[in-house]
Amino acid sequence: MASEPVNVNEYQELARRALPKMYYDFHAGGAEDQHTLKENVEAFRRITLRPRILVDVSRIDMSTTVLGYKISAPIMLAPTSMHQLAHPEGEVATARAAAACNTIMILSSISSCTVEEVASSCDAVRFFQLYVFKRRDISAQIVRRAEENGYKAIVLTVDAPRPGRREADIKNKMVAPPLRNFEGLISTKVDSVRSNLEAFAKVAYDASLCWEDIRWLKSITNLPILIKGVLTHEDARKAVEVGVAGIVVSNHGARQLDYTPSTISVLEEVVHAVGGKVPILFDGGVRRGTDVFKALALGAQAVLVGRPVVHGLAADGERGVRRVIEMLKNEFELTMALSGCPSIRDITRSHVRTESDKLH
Ligand code: FNR
Repeated sequence: MASEPVNVNEYQELARRALPKMYYDFHAGGAEDQHTLKENVEAFRRITLRPRILVDVSRIDMSTTVLGYKISAPIMLAPTSMHQLAHPEGEVATARAAAACNTIMILSSISSCTVEEVASSCDAVRFFQLYVFKRRDISAQIVRRAEENGYKAIVLTVDAPRPGRREADIKNKMVAPPLRNFEGLISTKVDSVRSNLEAFAKVAYDASLCWEDIRWLKSITNLPILIKGVLTHEDARKAVEVGVAGIVVSNHGARQLDYTPSTISVLEEVVHAVGGKVPILFDGGVRRGTDVFKALALGAQAVLVGRPVVHGLAADGERGVRRVIEMLKNEFELTMALSGCPSIRDITRSHVRTESDKLH
């Protein structure tokens, strides 16, 4: 590596150099015009900070809890698919990095290493992300495997009844390796026209999934269920009504429906609707410690990080992922200190100024 990156954005360029174009594009890209992809990042820049002075910040405590599990900082690893496209060690390397940083990784359903391999790679609290397939028996089986292997929560992704149109993948005729969690159960054979992942998702994902199905999911697992992909107060209220244990405000890293708003601009709407009944996690465009701080000030309990983790993995394996998380943690700690917030509970709404505040 030329020179050590000094922020997580620099890992993106290193990943671009390290990977075949097809794989880099798969990780970095978004849907259609990629408007929301840019907005997820840009919207953070339009929020400014309102630091308080003359507070004792000689000790900073970033630790927090999510569903009762203590983590070293409110920065978790978002579920992202097929880490072996980024690095031969795949999710095992990512899981070790997350464990070393004392935080929670959410393993994607469509991982390259299996649920079991990741579980046995190291001791740590992990959650499992679920896509519900048309073949409900396959989904039930993977939930059971997650439970048996010690995963502590199911993160149900609800914004992908069909795959978004990622044009780079279509152009590149993106070919993904077999999905090892489902070997022999679901075919991932290459579609000659489009990306095989898109073909897979079309065949496998259950587009009929709806609110009543949360009852089904609850009937097959005792694990707490978080719902990932909420963007409106209407859906936030319904999620609470059906009894989820938590909500992830997410637009899937802008890979599904383009022209959804940036996630940071809708976080507060969801927070108000939920009124503290369940914890709210957040993802989309987190690239700086100041972004973590802004999301917490607007009511998130913790943030999930997607692409920076994959880019760190591509550039430098387990160490790259560890460095990405450490950089975000270090920046976040400094932001807390310079904003006059020695602990997480000191971060309040009045520490940020949003676009809508400026109108009032
Ligand atoms: C994702 N995301 C995702 N989400 C999910 O629920 N299951 C999945 O398998 C995947 N796979 C996936 C692959 C890649 C390469 C990316 C970039 C993203 C979405 C992910 O969990 C998260 O919502 C976003 O990545 C957050 O945005 P940032 O941090 O990438 O800006």
